[in-house]
Amino acid sequence: VTKRILTGIKPTGTPHVGNWVGAIRPALQLVDRHDGSATAMYFIADYHALTQVHDRAKLADYTYEVAATWLALGLDPERVLFYRQSDVPEIFELAWILTCFTPKGWANKAHAYKAALDASRARGEADLDAGISMGVYSYPTLMAADILAFDTDLVPVGKDQVQHIEIARDLADRINHQYQQPVLKPPLAVVGEDTAVVPGVDGQKMSKSYDNTILLFAEEKALRKRVNQFKTDSLPPEAPKDPSTSALFQLYSAVATKAEAAALAERYRAGIGWGDAKKLLADRLDAELAPARARYAALMGDRPQIDALLGIGARRAREIAGGVLDRVRAATGIGARR
Ligand code: TRP
Repeated sequence: VTKRILTGIKPTGTPHVGNWVGAIRPALQLVDRHDGSATAMYFIADYHALTQVHDRAKLADYTYEVAATWLALGLDPERVLFYRQSDVPEIFELAWILTCFTPKGWANKAHAYKAALDASRARGEADLDAGISMGVYSYPTLMAADILAFDTDLVPVGKDQVQHIEIARDLADRINHQYQQPVLKPPLAVVGEDTAVVPGVDGQKMSKSYDNTILLFAEEKALRKRVNQFKTDSLPPEAPKDPSTSALFQLYSAVATKAEAAALAERYRAGIGWGDAKKLLADRLDAELAPARARYAALMGDRPQIDALLGIGARRAREIAGGVLDRVRAATGIGARR
């Protein structure tokens, strides 16, 4: 039996090197590892992004940028079902049905909502809930629908998302128990082994919210300029450097082979100027990304092609979800004529 692997990608920003190393590259490797024994479904979670992005042009641009990025980096739409969440209305229909089975107490404890509460608290708001939409509150229920609409077996996610997968699992169990039949398949989270921390130009974890990212497909000149902004100390060029405390080195080893990283570590210990270290990192990033950058530019110049590819995925996804929804309607009595 082939297992179904599914994960969602939230289009809330222009993809950066941290997204690639932390999420895109491992997800594409997972497809290769499971070739034949699993079917993968990777989708653009634009309804989830709408909980954060309320600028029409940005939401559209991020959606295309994220789609073009995955395709440029090697996602093969023949092997992976690749679609927009909002093109599969069955997901949304299931989301409401699941909402009717989600205890409000689960939503109170969910990670996305608690993170939003923390942000309200940090802003010093008097009413912590005032700025939080029902979309954020219902985030895990929509996510459960993403997963359960396709009889998903495995959901590769980061640690912060495991709780949301458990909610999907608990919802499937609840509905199966309520109707005394196997209506929905309880999924399992798969947490990848800890990928190395990808530092941004300030040395902190690379993240859009720290404004320290290196965009994946910036032009070569912009890429080099950004790498030159990496913070370094004032050791003279000939002084030995400790690779383990250098963000430049950490990022290099996240991109290069083990042998290349070992060779560079040697040069750090022997004494390397920061200017040279930056140049080596920029060269390595550029070598790795230049071919994909060209594919990305071609795709972004032809949005109808991206739409066509996503549309093929959506049609196949709708067939699968349609079957699951038939089961859910039959079990719950929704839409029954008698
Ligand atoms: N919430 C996930 C994130 O922030 C994205 C996501 C949406 C997702 N729906 C999903 C992940 C379904 C796995 C399965 O990264």
